[in-house]
Amino acid sequence: MCGIIGYCGGRAARPLLLDGLKRLEYRGYDSAGLAVADGGRLNVVRAVGKVSDLEKKGIERPLPGHCGIAHTRWATHGRPSEANAHPHLDCRERVAVVHNGIIENYLELKQELQAKGHAFRSETDSEVVAHLIEECFAGDLEKAVRLAVLRLEGTFGLAVMHADAPEQVVAARRGSPIILGLGEGEFFAASDANALLPYTQKVISLNDDEMAVLSPGGYHIKNLNDEFLQKEIEIREGRGEEADKKGFEHYMLKEIFEQPEAIENACRGRLLESEGVSKLGGLEPVLERLKNLKRLVIVSCGTSYYAGLCGRYIFESLCELHVEVEVASEFRYRRLKLDADTAVLALSQSGETADTLAAIREAKRKGALILGVVNVVGSAIAQVTDAGVYNHAGPEFGVASTKIYTSQLVVLTLMALLIGRYQGLSFTEGSAVIQALKRLPRQVKGILTDIEHIKDIAQRYARYQDFLFIGRQHNYPTAMEGALKLKEISYIHAEGYPAGEMKHGPISLIDAEFPTVAIVTQDATADKMLSNIQEIKARNGRVLAVASQGDGRITEVCDDVIRVPETLPILQPVLNIVPLQLFAYFIARSKGRDIDKPRNLAKSVTVE
Ligand code: M6R
Repeated sequence: MCGIIGYCGGRAARPLLLDGLKRLEYRGYDSAGLAVADGGRLNVVRAVGKVSDLEKKGIERPLPGHCGIAHTRWATHGRPSEANAHPHLDCRERVAVVHNGIIENYLELKQELQAKGHAFRSETDSEVVAHLIEECFAGDLEKAVRLAVLRLEGTFGLAVMHADAPEQVVAARRGSPIILGLGEGEFFAASDANALLPYTQKVISLNDDEMAVLSPGGYHIKNLNDEFLQKEIEIREGRGEEADKKGFEHYMLKEIFEQPEAIENACRGRLLESEGVSKLGGLEPVLERLKNLKRLVIVSCGTSYYAGLCGRYIFESLCELHVEVEVASEFRYRRLKLDADTAVLALSQSGETADTLAAIREAKRKGALILGVVNVVGSAIAQVTDAGVYNHAGPEFGVASTKIYTSQLVVLTLMALLIGRYQGLSFTEGSAVIQALKRLPRQVKGILTDIEHIKDIAQRYARYQDFLFIGRQHNYPTAMEGALKLKEISYIHAEGYPAGEMKHGPISLIDAEFPTVAIVTQDATADKMLSNIQEIKARNGRVLAVASQGDGRITEVCDDVIRVPETLPILQPVLNIVPLQLFAYFIARSKGRDIDKPRNLAKSVTVE
């Protein structure tokens, strides 16, 4: 969703801010803007559309200023427009504010400020922050931001400038990430490390209710009690070069092809073959509690939710656990009893998803052990959990999640293997899981070599308006995820269903214009799946099957078949989703969609 970058140093700020914004584009946005200190005033430019549109504006003269703030906005309060784009200004255009998050008490504050004579120009909640700072300002920007922030309810990541303090950027956070980048004589503040990494790998993550003051000469960090804080400097790997598409047409395709490596990275150093078990350093502090765990509640959203649904089968198969999976945004409406024998596990690529964050905060309040599987190191969810495992899959830029989904399935298997070996799983069973995990990267590579066949099929199916995806047991979540991939990037209507549910309603939709994608790899449910496919064929429906390499029966009944290798049933979804990712990708491509940044979607969903 929204993205922030701020800069203070010796170089011209504008090109650095624009470069930072480009590195935040993958998060999804609809407008952008920047403010640069410019000879005693703030030069502000905003544009609806892409960062490239912003880049074209305000270039009549080079801006000399070397401190500035910039933002990409994903509309929440008010439609995408120049007036609603950030930075927002106070009445006298001396204060500029960029904001991520939602100010929940903005209406109340707005009324109070309007009563004092403040005139508002936008429909946003964020503008209230600029006027509040104006109201609190008496020559000291840091103090004014602190006083303003103390009045705010909701979530915020902020970067603020004042024309009277042109060499300062003040940043603050509560519930929305702010990361500082420490360069040589230059300092950055950003909502996402990807914006900083080309310039510095030295970063500091602000915690909630902390603020930072940056200037070309240095920085300091304080809490909201005005006390100085000493914080650890982390060294982040990479220089943001992953943001290169490396010759692929889209990030999504590149990330689909990175899956063998992502699976290897998830397993690296974590397979203890001699013991038939996994080793997960991030779970060691809570190992004693995990040994006696009785119940696991998985919370997540979107693709991560479907990974959670697969996780239920994985944990049930390897452990003696009662497993529930809950859409994170619904979790708080349940009256769940959570005790010390229960763990709540958050799955999140970004580690920023507001619904998932809210769910684990709720679970923490109720006394459960909070675990996480997160890809982004140091992200908000990683900070709230008691223990967890990182995916180590590298950044994912395509809005449609691909490599993190398969990586999540692998990490969940590693977690289940660890717990299962304390709960009755034998050495032989554990070793079989390890061997299957080791085969996965090669098997995924094999599927990727079938790209031309999958592309050909996708092009033939691209004309349909609606799709049904069906699967049973482990492949019921695969059906849901396959349908989600197709709808989010191609804008085609697709529904994922447990195959057995078809005759309870969706079968009435079937006709020659409503194709079905059936995930029918060899397992205990394969015969029942075949019956379901026959039912569709009897109603003139076209069927594309994802089937096992050796299955000779399937060509008799289905119109088209994509073959995948066999593995253990719990890991079969890792293989089965790969052709469906490609299927969605090639349909979206043939329709000319904006595959990496589909309309209305954001990579990190930071609002509830
Ligand atoms: O970062 P998270 O894994 O918490 O994100 C959850 C969903 O927003 C995300 O998976 C979304 O559904 C993707 N666009 C799916 O491709």
